[in-house]
Amino acid sequence: MAKTKTIYSCTNCGSGFPKWAGQCGECGEWNTLVEQVKQGTSVAARHAGLTPDSSVTVLKDVDLQQVQRISTHSPELDRVLGGGVVPGSVTLLGGDPGIGKSTLLTQYMAKINASHSVLYTSGEESAQQIAIRAKRLGEETQSLKVMAENRLEPILQAAQRERPKVLVVDSIQTVYTDAIESAPGNVTQVRECAARLVRYAKQNECAVMLVGHVTKEGSLAGPRILEHMVDAVLYFEGDTSSTFRLIRAIKNRFGAVNEVGVFAMMETGLMDVSNPSAMFVSRFSTESAGSVVLATQEGSRPLLVEVQALVDQSAHGNPRRLCVGLEQNRLAMLLAILHRHGGLMLSDQDVFANVVGGIKVTETASDVAVLIALVSSLLNRPIGSKLAAFGEVGLTGEIRPVQSGLERIKEAQKLGFASVLLPKANVPKKTVSDIKLVPVGHIQQVLDYLQSN
Ligand code: TYD
Ligand code: MG
Repeated sequence: MAKTKTIYSCTNCGSGFPKWAGQCGECGEWNTLVEQVKQGTSVAARHAGLTPDSSVTVLKDVDLQQVQRISTHSPELDRVLGGGVVPGSVTLLGGDPGIGKSTLLTQYMAKINASHSVLYTSGEESAQQIAIRAKRLGEETQSLKVMAENRLEPILQAAQRERPKVLVVDSIQTVYTDAIESAPGNVTQVRECAARLVRYAKQNECAVMLVGHVTKEGSLAGPRILEHMVDAVLYFEGDTSSTFRLIRAIKNRFGAVNEVGVFAMMETGLMDVSNPSAMFVSRFSTESAGSVVLATQEGSRPLLVEVQALVDQSAHGNPRRLCVGLEQNRLAMLLAILHRHGGLMLSDQDVFANVVGGIKVTETASDVAVLIALVSSLLNRPIGSKLAAFGEVGLTGEIRPVQSGLERIKEAQKLGFASVLLPKANVPKKTVSDIKLVPVGHIQQVLDYLQSN
């Protein structure tokens, strides 16, 4: 009989402690320690047999069988996955409730199901609920095999029986195993169930797709360890009230990270958006002040998005600074640079900045566009011409170069922009036809350009 003892584990980071405390000694979170009964089995025993072969090999002797990826028949999803689903891999798909995780998996797994069998298990919805959704998604979803179950053992048994090429578990937080006493969704449960599903995937060459819930803060619920255990972590981003959805690869052992796929949520499910720039800037109006197009780079793809700013006289002593889809700290920095090196004082103004379409831009190349939008709003001067901009702003007011300059210029040119404002060091050696380049080296030059146009 295995020895059992009580430990207290943190629901945030998964660390275990012999005594209860108000604060986790590992990650510093408060009130996250919960009582847990620890099974006496050793970690080594539980993870035994993860790889079928435990011999030592020289790398050059390793048989490089060409990995046969399974295409999802969606260029956008394939792009994020690095070319398709890899047999034996485990992918975690996270996102806010109602963003479309179940829709995505039902829809694209049904496409895979036409050539490779798929088993869709759901601990969140009944077979009827899945069927109602599937009906909206079209005819090909009808032959998908589903199972409404949240106990891990029956799921694994069904998988052993059906031998699917892809197993979907929606969601990992609702699955539990009887081997552990804690409730579903608890760190220990999530970790144990995920570990067993990972083992199943590796031993049976079956791709496993896990759906994961996210917390209020936007990170995946359950311990961070879940992200370490799986091969790929995809995040579903976007505003549930808008039609755009972005899937971003945060981690991918079989492809590039930070690659994004763009989708639109329609009446009949998700649709690939092959030319997202056109969609994001289609309603862009050159008449209004405080708005400019940013040429950003998402993974290997340039993307044009609209950046808006509103600068308004503050009614309070403590003016507001608010960002949606941009970094709050960078906004504060830009305001300080504008004051110190551009001579524009905004300390008595409320400042709001936003990226249209629910997109998040984290790269520093957004600085110049945010700056232009701020100045345009402050001076109430619309950016008249069809201008796209990119570039990083340094603390001394210099405009610093960013990566993939040429790709950004070409994307703007493709969409019919008349000019691109860019860092001096990003000007390509060869001339680019049909588009005017406005190189800038210091924010003063950006301000001069805005004054003169
Ligand atoms: P769902 O996939 O259930 O979200 P999740 O699994 O991430 O919680 O998706 C839900 C939302 O998508 C829901 O609000 C309805 C909407 N939707 C459509 O707009 N069109 C569709 O064809 C489907 C199936 C859902
Ligand atoms: Mg769901």
